[in-house]
Amino acid sequence: MLDPKNWEETKQIGHRMLDDLFEYLEHLRDTPVWTYAPDAIRDHFHAPLPEQPQPLDAVYDEFKKYIWPYIGGNIHPGFMGWAQGGGTAVGMLAELLAAGLNANLGGRDHIPILVERQITLWLSELLHFPKTASGLFVTGTSLANFMALLIAKTNASGTSSRVEGVSPLLRGYTSQATHSCVIKAFEMAGLGSKGLRIVPMNVEDLQAAVDKDRSEGLQPFIVIANAGTVDTGAIDDLQALHRFCKKEKLWFHIDGAIGALGMLSPRIAPLLKGIEHADSIALDFHKWGQVPYEAGFILVRDAKKQLETFAAEGAYLKRAKKGMAAGDIWPCDYGPNLSRGFQALKTWFTIKAYGAESLGKMIEHTCDLASYAAKKILASDHLELLAPVTLNIVCFRYKAASLKRSNEINQAIVEELQLSGRVAPSTTLIDGKLAIRAAFFNHRTSYADVDYLLTRVLDTKVFQTQQ
Ligand SMILES: Cc1ncc(COP(=O)(O)O)c(C=O)c1O
Repeated sequence: MLDPKNWEETKQIGHRMLDDLFEYLEHLRDTPVWTYAPDAIRDHFHAPLPEQPQPLDAVYDEFKKYIWPYIGGNIHPGFMGWAQGGGTAVGMLAELLAAGLNANLGGRDHIPILVERQITLWLSELLHFPKTASGLFVTGTSLANFMALLIAKTNASGTSSRVEGVSPLLRGYTSQATHSCVIKAFEMAGLGSKGLRIVPMNVEDLQAAVDKDRSEGLQPFIVIANAGTVDTGAIDDLQALHRFCKKEKLWFHIDGAIGALGMLSPRIAPLLKGIEHADSIALDFHKWGQVPYEAGFILVRDAKKQLETFAAEGAYLKRAKKGMAAGDIWPCDYGPNLSRGFQALKTWFTIKAYGAESLGKMIEHTCDLASYAAKKILASDHLELLAPVTLNIVCFRYKAASLKRSNEINQAIVEELQLSGRVAPSTTLIDGKLAIRAAFFNHRTSYADVDYLLTRVLDTKVFQTQQ
């Protein structure tokens, strides 16, 4: 009923869409990173429910006018804000194919499930996990962290906790630098944010915190380490933390959203030593992996633990010996979702079309941009580097007479740059100092973009005269 009445016409519009997209991606540099959407554009999205059909080309024209020019900008080479990947033409095409097939990867017997399994195997190879490890695509690292927490909870409290609920005595440990989604995960899991201790990620402080909690009758169960912190890209001592967790019988989880895919680069991999010992790793392909959003992933060393947390019975999900319902274990047994899209396809295409080696080189390039920026910042009398550069993130500020003034100036610089539409860093706080944060995740960003960023920061004469 909903198939085109005129396939030829739909095909032509589809081809036009593709041509427009290719043209756009090829000439991204000629467009602004980001454009503020005026009220007239925003008001457009308060329209009532459309009762009658509109021609597809009219809807496409509307898309081109009201949506396309006002996107978030992360695909643009000048985008350096937050931590977002740039996507690729390959990923875009694979996403189109996946949408056309409209596969549901919750379960049943079809090859798309093996494509997802293939990614688990490739990741296990890359991160030196056993071949028996389990893995699952999820929306993002936030959800992967949440799932890891639930698995660790079941590991600590037994499967009866699925019936009884969580123990209020459970305690987890992570550093101040950990992403806010981990705190949210504790809240969502019913453990409460007070179930998460914020401690420096070194063995001495961890030992003291764990011993104290145990002496008070509490139950330490998980350590959450960072393979690249969100603010600065710093990497915890994963080997030491692994040894500690093993000794104390704690679940060792790593948030690898920022850095885990650094394993693709022989130059960066040594910084991540110890990642291979994690009980679980949360990561995503939509940042450094350049796979179009969303492509989060959880990898778990012991598949049984993941199944014990999520597998559930359902009469209409009964498995069969033959036919479409064949297979003992379905992907829905490994996570909270039953219906699941074919996220694996765009990741599979990306890894195959570029190859692990060139993806590793792209990752090195983004780290080189950060080192290059840091060198120039250190050489400038007006700029201050606020954190060491470990991977691809640089935090710095324009110096001013007082902290208050410096925070105001740097906030204003970032806002001005974002509005300018040429380069777009974001901000963060480092020891109370507002930092300009340039996170180089986009594979399209060049040295000239870094030069432009620093020149523009130094050029903000308006602020210099106001100091
Ligand atoms: C360290 C870290 N963990 C988790 C997240 C959340 O990841 P996602 O946006 O894929 O949910 C981020 C996002 O930047 C991050 O940097």
